[in-house]
Amino acid sequence: MTSRAPLRIGIAGLGRLGWRHAENIAYSIRDARLVCACSPVRTELEAASSRLGVERTTTSFEEMIQSPDIDAVVLVTPTSLHAEQTIAALEAGKHVFVEKPLALDVADCERVQAVAARHPGLVAMVGFVRRFDPSYREAHDRLQRGAIGKPFFVRSQTCDLNDPSGFFVQYAAHSGGLFMDCSVHDIDLARWMLGNPRAERVYATGTIAMHPGLAKHQDVDNGFALVDFEGGGRAAFYASRTFAHGHETQTEVIGTAGKLLVGHGAARDRLVTSDAQGTHHASVADFFERFENAFLQEMTAFVSACRGETALELTLADATEASRIGQAITRSLRSGQVERVLQP
Ligand SMILES: NC(=O)c1ccc[n+]([C@@H]2O[C@H](COP(=O)([O-])OP(=O)(O)OC[C@H]3O[C@@H](n4cnc5c(N)ncnc54)[C@H](O)[C@@H]3O)[C@@H](O)[C@H]2O)c1
Repeated sequence: MTSRAPLRIGIAGLGRLGWRHAENIAYSIRDARLVCACSPVRTELEAASSRLGVERTTTSFEEMIQSPDIDAVVLVTPTSLHAEQTIAALEAGKHVFVEKPLALDVADCERVQAVAARHPGLVAMVGFVRRFDPSYREAHDRLQRGAIGKPFFVRSQTCDLNDPSGFFVQYAAHSGGLFMDCSVHDIDLARWMLGNPRAERVYATGTIAMHPGLAKHQDVDNGFALVDFEGGGRAAFYASRTFAHGHETQTEVIGTAGKLLVGHGAARDRLVTSDAQGTHHASVADFFERFENAFLQEMTAFVSACRGETALELTLADATEASRIGQAITRSLRSGQVERVLQP
């Protein structure tokens, strides 16, 4: 059933990405209001009140999800909290948007799916933002129309500008590592482009090129993975934390009658400068700059689904498969062996 009233949203997490989602909901998403913000960090709550005009703030997640004047909860909290918070919010009768990955543990993903299945009237959406990027959408539409014949190979990368502060070295303790944190986007894209196949086996390797602190988390700053999907589809992923010039997300889909390329290089805009040093352009700084529009489209799709206006193509089962493959890749990185992907 469609609703004419604006969707009343409470957000949990106002960190690196949560703040951006909060700004979007407060100022840029039609038919939504940001009515509550939750974080254990008081300075973040003060900023939400003073800069975003959020009416109510709280350090208690439980208090927020029990509020009768909230329809939906947006979770931008550390990955280790996603499953429990999603389950609690669904049980409290709220629609849920949760950032990727749904959970590090596949069993936790499946528990979330089981609870969501008991609440079919509630929307539960995972933030695979690239599915909402206009270029990726167009590529998917063209694939559906048969533009490159039958797609069989996806080569995809997520590469970040090096952050010398080492922020992500601390972050690695909770993020699940390079493949679960970054490549999980490429994994979801590859499945989407190849028609949502299940994976059979994976192999991964990687290296620590610049950040030795990652070794204690059994993580790497540059990683490579190969995936064999059922039905013959194949994927190759590359992820890096150490690019010198900028953020570079790029995906190539190869089919029997052509290929598609989304993103090439890290050019920020159409300005190219030529001078005594050569010909050069500025680079995209980070994932948010590259996907700014997609984050807006993604939240618009969530709000629209909650108001009963549109259905979502992206399912919790897709998010579970992405975690299942990401975990197998992470196991392979650590074992040095080909790992079978455990089927449901
Ligand atoms: N879609 C993307 O491209 C993308 C990009 C970056 C991050 N993410 C995801 O977003 C999530 C958050 O990442 P981040 O980089 O913003 O992390 P962050 O550490 O910068 O922010 C986490 C926030 O959660 C808050 N928090 C911690 N415990 C909480 C609790 N119990 N209740 C409520 N709030 C709590 C913290 O105070 C902080 O505001 C992660 O799951 C990450 O994988 C997705």
